[in-house]
Amino acid sequence: MSSENHLRWHSASVNKYERELLNGHKGGVIWFTGLSGAGKSTLANALARSLHDRGVRTYVLDGDNVRLGLNRDLGFSQQDRTENIRRIAEVSRLFADAGFIVINAFISPYQSDRTMARQILSEHPYIEIYVCCSLAECERRDPKGLYAKARSGQIPHFTGISAPYEEPQDAEMTIMTEVETVPEAVGRIATELKARQII
Ligand code: PPS
Repeated sequence: MSSENHLRWHSASVNKYERELLNGHKGGVIWFTGLSGAGKSTLANALARSLHDRGVRTYVLDGDNVRLGLNRDLGFSQQDRTENIRRIAEVSRLFADAGFIVINAFISPYQSDRTMARQILSEHPYIEIYVCCSLAECERRDPKGLYAKARSGQIPHFTGISAPYEEPQDAEMTIMTEVETVPEAVGRIATELKARQII
């Protein structure tokens, strides 16, 4: 018998609605997905800076950071990536319940994992953003030198080279980082957050 049968969720004395009243905005999740080098972390951090400067509580979760701690036991097989996304979605759920706008920057290459994350976060406002950039351009940028290593066989299962990236089918927004500037994209996301009455 699973130990889950002996567990039950405890309601807190202060609820999400009360925290949102205190903050002056809703909690929710913005999930950036895209190839390595597409610009996910750059956009996530520019958005966090812009929102923070106008008094919005944010927290950025990103691939390298989470994999250095919570998910240090996971690699890049499909199974491990699924577990990576599941744990991140569960952590995001806690942060969103705490009243934060969680800004996630993960390759999250599989449609089924993104659907799982959306489902785990179904009680919270959720915006998936496809950070779209051609593989050729990501490889040209190669900010961490990982594409060169992947091409020479030093990194197995590298997304776009030897592991798949499934383009999102139901993203709320797409940002083409070869065309749109960072301030333009951040402005567009802020407009979307206002339109959805999240901020
Ligand atoms: S995933 O697919 O969502 O589970 O990946 P994520 O947690 O976002 O981690 C991606 C970062 O890990 C580094 N890295 C790799 N990426 C893709 N494939 C392989 N094999 C790999 N090995 C290491 C890389 O720095 C990624 O960061 P970003 O910021 O995307 O470049």
